[in-house]
Amino acid sequence: MSVQSSNILFGPTATTKFQEQYGSPNVVVTGAAGFIGSHLVERLLLLGCRVVGVDDFDPWYDSTQKRDNLAWASAQDDFDLIEEPLAIDGLRGMLGDPSVVFHLAGRPGVQDSWGEGFVESSHRNIDLTQRVYEMCLTNGFPRVVYASSSSVYGANANRHDLTPELSPISPYGVSKLVGEQLGQVYRLRGLNVACLRYFTVFGPRQRPDMAMHRMFEATRPNGPVFMRRGDGSQSREFTYVEDVVEATIAAGFIDEAQNCTFDIGGGSVTSLNEVIQIVEQLSDRPIRMETVDLPAGDPPVTVARTQLAQEVLGWEPCVELLDGLAEQARWHQHRWTYADSLLIAD
Ligand SMILES: NC(=O)c1ccc[n+]([C@@H]2O[C@H](COP(=O)([O-])OP(=O)(O)OC[C@H]3O[C@@H](n4cnc5c(N)ncnc54)[C@H](O)[C@@H]3O)[C@@H](O)[C@H]2O)c1
Repeated sequence: MSVQSSNILFGPTATTKFQEQYGSPNVVVTGAAGFIGSHLVERLLLLGCRVVGVDDFDPWYDSTQKRDNLAWASAQDDFDLIEEPLAIDGLRGMLGDPSVVFHLAGRPGVQDSWGEGFVESSHRNIDLTQRVYEMCLTNGFPRVVYASSSSVYGANANRHDLTPELSPISPYGVSKLVGEQLGQVYRLRGLNVACLRYFTVFGPRQRPDMAMHRMFEATRPNGPVFMRRGDGSQSREFTYVEDVVEATIAAGFIDEAQNCTFDIGGGSVTSLNEVIQIVEQLSDRPIRMETVDLPAGDPPVTVARTQLAQEVLGWEPCVELLDGLAEQARWHQHRWTYADSLLIAD
């Protein structure tokens, strides 16, 4: 990875500094095989943590990608994977006392949360989040970092409004907000819960349903067609995955972060049409594209308020959209080269 962070906890001597301060703690990552979870696992291992990952390889998207995500981690002595749905019960025996449970498992995806999709969204985002909190409380695990979402704001994004109304416009957004509210309830019982509202995350291993992933795949001559939703004017505060990982780890270890809720955004807002242009430049090929109606639940703009994350976590995003997309382009290229080599071998 050529992009580097300059944050205090994660600079060039990060491992030494981290171990001086925190030792080699035991931690749990739920959703470990997913896009963000697998990056988080790697960074925690590099910092010297002993990591137990939990992932049930939800068939919502291809598990081959998830297995690839964990290829490096799986070869490390300090990593164990429990391939079951959030079997937190059994973790105490394996881990002793984990310092932090990073709870990233869930069913992301706004569009799939409508209709029958809500059965899975509510089960994976609400029921299982309550179970994680309950298990942590019962087993005496002191601290949970919960992966929430900018979707809790709905269409209420305004950088100058310090307390914007939480008003989701999709069932997915509702499910993530309930996960936060359950966290508030468990705080009353003494569990430390930090909530991080991630703003559209991108980078290598991005989920196949996400727009940038679909754009890169649509630059292949025989690839799928990218279905642009709406006129492409909708704008997002895109956030590079390594920046998200750093904020997440900081929220797990910095004491002042306990029981706080943070916006984690990339620092600038970009329209879908601008991203389309960048992806085409990086790929040196046009995106095969069709336009469909803007679906329900898609906010026109998302804007993060990252002051609290700066003040409490000492965190700010470091990776520019262009640099991060170049990393993602390399990841897609690598996958295609590998897939092509298998075809030739056949
Ligand atoms: N990617 C984003 O832009 C974004 C933005 C806001 C919030 N989030 C949140 O961050 C988290 C991670 O998102 P992601 O993009 O990495 O998604 P992902 O789908 O790649 O990862 C989620 C992982 O959780 C696992 N999982 C689901 N249900 C499980 C269960 N019951 N038991 C064990 N494992 C289970 C899945 O198999 C998957 O590997 C999610 O909670 C999501 O809601 C993501």
